[in-house]
Amino acid sequence: MQRLGVPCPKSRTFDDYEIVLRYINGPSVTYPAVIKADGLCVGKGVRFAFNRQQALDIINDFMIRRIHGPAGEMVIFQECLTGPEVSVIVLVDESGMVALLPSMDHKRLEENDQGPNTGGMGAIAPLPFFTEQMVDEAAARIFLPVLGEMRRLGCPFTGILYAGLILTDEGPKVLEFNVRMGDPECQSLMMLLDTPLAEIFQAMAENRLLEVAPLRWKPGFAACVVLVNRGYPGKYENGDIIPNLGRSGQCGIPANDPDWYLFHAGTAWGGDHWRTNGGRVIGATVRPATLPDAIKSANALASVVCWPGGQFRPDIGRKALQLV
Ligand code: GLY
Repeated sequence: MQRLGVPCPKSRTFDDYEIVLRYINGPSVTYPAVIKADGLCVGKGVRFAFNRQQALDIINDFMIRRIHGPAGEMVIFQECLTGPEVSVIVLVDESGMVALLPSMDHKRLEENDQGPNTGGMGAIAPLPFFTEQMVDEAAARIFLPVLGEMRRLGCPFTGILYAGLILTDEGPKVLEFNVRMGDPECQSLMMLLDTPLAEIFQAMAENRLLEVAPLRWKPGFAACVVLVNRGYPGKYENGDIIPNLGRSGQCGIPANDPDWYLFHAGTAWGGDHWRTNGGRVIGATVRPATLPDAIKSANALASVVCWPGGQFRPDIGRKALQLV
């Protein structure tokens, strides 16, 4: 990204503990710093250091104590940027690229962006403050240069490319790329997508993506509130009964109403009840006409489903209302 001029935070990458120690003890680190374990850590590999001691503790966790195993062998120090975060996901095949609606994840565990980072506590889509023109700009400044460079390097990308962006005073910058739909963004997007997903994937597999574009979207706004096991993203117990779920895994919602849906992520059918079986357990997802209604209804649905050992963020989407 630095080479291509794709907007991103300044960062340094290290795979040698002694060198990172010298960096921490030197003059060029600014705090707060974002420190990332390079490998896959199921959403737990990003930490904030507000001073030198915290940076040391994090490096020791990643590189010496190996709390994420080999994922922490390489670490990245990154400038800490502030601003709203937006997820822009594009579909890519050899015929071209098509952007999905922009969405917004909420990574911190607790209300008002407090608590540890998680894999995602809820998402909304589309975003009233992130216009179609902004998506086009992200395509021109971020996706097209990256995809072009991958082609030039002999490893053309096809599939789903997800950019986690942060909106700074200098414009959107890339915080991360993923090669998947994004969870819980996907749940919100699936409530809105009207073109059949199988048709889209079939077209992509045959390099005919542009034939199914522009994609059709249902009107309204989707919100997904993720119910998690208490203790997540740390240690938690599995096996709690989720009493308000019927055999279908839904909860008294008309079975064929597509505008309310419980996406199961960490559940198991225990023969008599649905039980918890993972950190992020269920995505309570709705698609009413307005964003305020989506926020309200997703919360109402989450409250009905939540079991005594579960928790959720009641403020999913609220920040987006303030940005309009
Ligand atoms: N929601 C962020 C991710 O799926 O990585």
